[in-house]
Amino acid sequence: MNGGQVPNTLRVECIAEDIRRVHDENDLAEQLVHADTHQIPATIVGGGSNLVLRNRLPGVAILLELCGTAFERLGDDDWRIVAAAGENWQTVVDGALQRGIGGLENLTLIPGSAGAAPVQNIGAYGRELSEFLESVTVFDRQEQCYSTLTGPQCGFGYRDSVFKRDAPNRYVITRLALRLGGAALAADYPDVASELADHRGTVDRKTVAGAVAKVRRRKLPDPARIGNVGSFFKNPMVTEAELDAVRALVDIDDYPAPAGTEGRKIPAARLIDAAGWKGVRKDRVQVWPRQPLVLVNLGGATGGEVLALATGIRDDVYRKYGVALELEPVVLGTD
Ligand code: EPU
Repeated sequence: MNGGQVPNTLRVECIAEDIRRVHDENDLAEQLVHADTHQIPATIVGGGSNLVLRNRLPGVAILLELCGTAFERLGDDDWRIVAAAGENWQTVVDGALQRGIGGLENLTLIPGSAGAAPVQNIGAYGRELSEFLESVTVFDRQEQCYSTLTGPQCGFGYRDSVFKRDAPNRYVITRLALRLGGAALAADYPDVASELADHRGTVDRKTVAGAVAKVRRRKLPDPARIGNVGSFFKNPMVTEAELDAVRALVDIDDYPAPAGTEGRKIPAARLIDAAGWKGVRKDRVQVWPRQPLVLVNLGGATGGEVLALATGIRDDVYRKYGVALELEPVVLGTD
């Protein structure tokens, strides 16, 4: 047993009873079979950028450090990128941009590992990972073997997938294959469009990536400097009638619901802002003044303190607008 701190971008203290770093798929399989056979709880940790951890994590934390990215050209503008789960997501995005491969430019600067990207189906500025995901290689803890799931088998939704719904119980992602090429530029998301409004010359993939990076740097705290997990709540889906009821109280935009879901999507940030939470501090946690969907650890906060503020926001937004906000990151551990 070799316990220790579980890495996480929220920068809260969380001690796992045991920590194992795995560098290859065989080692991972051995660790998982051992844990499952002995009924030791095993938690898979990638970049730790979408986790809210309480003080202690029972059992073993397995840190995925599987590395390597391959870029395979299948045709003129047709590529497959295969990335190991432990690769940094930005390495994949940069590798694609350097080779002129289009599609990932809107997903630049999202913190975390490649293996974590499918779990919450990362998305930003009009693009989602699921649009490009060909397959994932997983260790199936139920069958105790490796297998491949195609994109549709991953059951993707808005910030959701079969891995998030079942994780960490069944599948552990070790590799993903993306199929890219031919994607049109997506530059009409309001923040990106206004960033590009003064741009002279042609707008290409690198220009879009640059604009997205500028918007992110302006609005979102850098997890390398201030502890955070990006959006703390999902944008809620509401019915037309609920939307009317909210609109009687607050001026708010609405967007089409993601494929496969009913209703309209509304920005949680607007509700949190309207309820007066922007910039509010409680203990060592703050609602980020430039994007109230993000909660930041000002230094030394516990996961419990962050969750207490989130609960306060959720209850208040529900009381004021009748909309139930759902947490976006995964909460793990015990106090
Ligand atoms: N807004 C306010 N006050 C603010 C900021 C925003 O009222 O201070 C309202 C505005 O109406 C604005 C709207 O919220 O138009 C939407 O804001 P923004 O464009 O910043 O996007 P978001 O819906 O809040 C989502 C994702 C982000 C992603 C951005 C851009 C979720 C939960 N969040 O945020 O993802 O970067 O869109 O695509 O879907 C993440 O998942 O960690 C994340 C940061």
